[in-house]
Amino acid sequence: MNGGARRPLRFLVTAGPTREAIDPVRYLSNRSSGKMGYALAAAAKRYGTVVLVSGPTALKAPPGVKRISIISARQMRSAALRACRGADVIIQCAAVADYAPSRPSARKIKKSGATLTLRLKRTPDILSEMARLKKPGQLLVGFAAETNDLERNALGKLRRKRLDAIVANRVGLSDVGMESDENACVLIRSDGRKSRFARTTKTRLARMLLKELLKEKFR
Ligand code: CTP
Repeated sequence: MNGGARRPLRFLVTAGPTREAIDPVRYLSNRSSGKMGYALAAAAKRYGTVVLVSGPTALKAPPGVKRISIISARQMRSAALRACRGADVIIQCAAVADYAPSRPSARKIKKSGATLTLRLKRTPDILSEMARLKKPGQLLVGFAAETNDLERNALGKLRRKRLDAIVANRVGLSDVGMESDENACVLIRSDGRKSRFARTTKTRLARMLLKELLKEKFR
């Protein structure tokens, strides 16, 4: 457990992709497998109780973790905002779709012309909403998936979204990051301090990240 005398912590971890319906049989999504978020949920279980709000993945819930399954960004928003109220530590690892079809069709779209234009609207930024609801003592951690300018972009997100820390990881590489069993990342705190984690399995990385995050906050 949690270093002997300390009380168990309550975690909210989000994981996986969201799916945004185009019509009853099609959706927009991304390549997130959920592995990093599930590894974090499993690692967090050693420190207390864990609610895992998860988009569609092929993964089994880690033992003892309460999983809430959702599909769309809207559903993730309502489940996550409800669960964040009672959490000491919130880790928003999910790859939430930034845009969703503005008017999903009730019927399967039939093909007609040579091109098809989909109209999309922005989804709510769940992490920014969590930051607005944040209570004193809560630790709010986001993820930044970047193909370029990793640390600069992640730092921008940390500030814009008013986070305590952000985990920056490079995506778009074939053997590390999204869909892979391994990852490398940089943890950036709100005061600008950085910890670099070399490539390793997501299970090990999750344990090391949590140790580092909790050492800071609940000393
Ligand atoms: N996020 C969120 N709600 C959204 C979009 C993103 O809560 N609608 C969260 C992600 O879960 C992640 C963080 O915001 O913790 C950063 O997500 P990312 O996709 O890297 O950045 P965006 O804010 O979406 O910005 P951009 O896509 O322009 O890089």
